[in-house]
Amino acid sequence: MNKKITVIKGDGIGPEIVTEAIKVLDAVAEKFGHSFEYTDILMGGCSIDACGVPLTDEAVATAKAADAVLLGAIGGNTSTSPWYKLAPNLRPEAGLLKIRKELGLFANLRPANLYDELKFACPLRSDIIEGGFDMMIMRELTGGLYFGARKTEVVDGVETAVDTLSYNEDEIRRIAIKGFDIAMKRRKKVTSVDKANVLDSSRLWRKVVNEVAKDYPEVELEHMLVDNCAMQLVRDPKQFDVILTENMFGDILSDEAAMVSGSLGMLASASLNDTKFGLYEPSHGSAPDIAGQDKANPLATILSASMMLRYSFDMDKEADAIDNAVKQVLAEGYRTGDIMSEGMKQVGCKEMGSLVAERV
Ligand code: NAD
Ligand code: IPM
Ligand code: MN
Repeated sequence: MNKKITVIKGDGIGPEIVTEAIKVLDAVAEKFGHSFEYTDILMGGCSIDACGVPLTDEAVATAKAADAVLLGAIGGNTSTSPWYKLAPNLRPEAGLLKIRKELGLFANLRPANLYDELKFACPLRSDIIEGGFDMMIMRELTGGLYFGARKTEVVDGVETAVDTLSYNEDEIRRIAIKGFDIAMKRRKKVTSVDKANVLDSSRLWRKVVNEVAKDYPEVELEHMLVDNCAMQLVRDPKQFDVILTENMFGDILSDEAAMVSGSLGMLASASLNDTKFGLYEPSHGSAPDIAGQDKANPLATILSASMMLRYSFDMDKEADAIDNAVKQVLAEGYRTGDIMSEGMKQVGCKEMGSLVAERV
């Protein structure tokens, strides 16, 4: 098969990790007789520097014309980079929000599981993680606080900032349906996470999720408040199958789930709409503290490329080849610094990518 992939290397470690994911995709293409055609576009700080905006309309058009998008990460150090002196709508993150909105990517899937080989990288006690865990965080991605009206103004002589958290029932219903559909292919349990004891948007969330649940009698549904969920993720991560939640809660809980799995450098993601199209990116950021040092863990990006093969291209055995290659490399004891533990062999970003590509 011939597939067109729009590539966004982005900022910080973005170019390093995407290069390794492409190495692995090329190994898949060679082994299985496919051809992947890559077209680069700019997004984030590099686009600000080259074009004055974090994402041009031409770049969006290129992304739309592809079969899928592969993204590294965007952004700089938010305290020191000059990008953060610009107006908010001209900063790197505005490019990411624009592409998610323009492509209608309302469903963000972030799978967090514990590889047996990485149990020493997990900060939780061994009795808590005995037997491993395997959850899918379903994060709503184009609504909520990220896209509500915001302003900063002086009210009665006091500087005041407002962000708006708004959801309508249609936005909730479509992500809930995706969440239940995915649960049907897994262990048939949905934990819907909200703050319904305080927020109107969460009360609507709960009501709509309950309505959708009626169409899925086989799926067990529970509601959990977000503060409790943050605690339960470290108390007993095994209890979760699908976590269904709104944009901001999903952002925070997925970083927590990533660390419980051993490292932010392991958590892949797929951002989907209602077609086969998708954008695939690691859940972590541009890690300015380690950029350009060949230290980044490329596995989250490589596993995101595997999700691209599975969800957008229906290439299940090709995706399995990547997932198995990652497991094999970990079983052989190779580790980047973030997942290093005693007795293991430490490698850099490039070597990790090559090791996976060779095992595909
Ligand atoms: P971050 O995820 O970039 O880094 C947090 C910590 O995790 C750092 O210590 C970093 O070195 C480490 N880390 C992250 N990914 C790693 C990897 N693959 N291998 C090894 N270590 C890794 O979060 P941050 O520092 O809060 O944000 C930095 C910038 O990234 C900000 O500008 C932020 O807006 C942006 N960001 C972008 C995305 C994205 O592009 N999707 C996601 C999150 C943050
Ligand atoms: C993520 C990131 C983004 C988000 C930022 C960079 C806007 O943290 O993809 O998790 O909050 O969605
Ligand atoms: Mn995040």
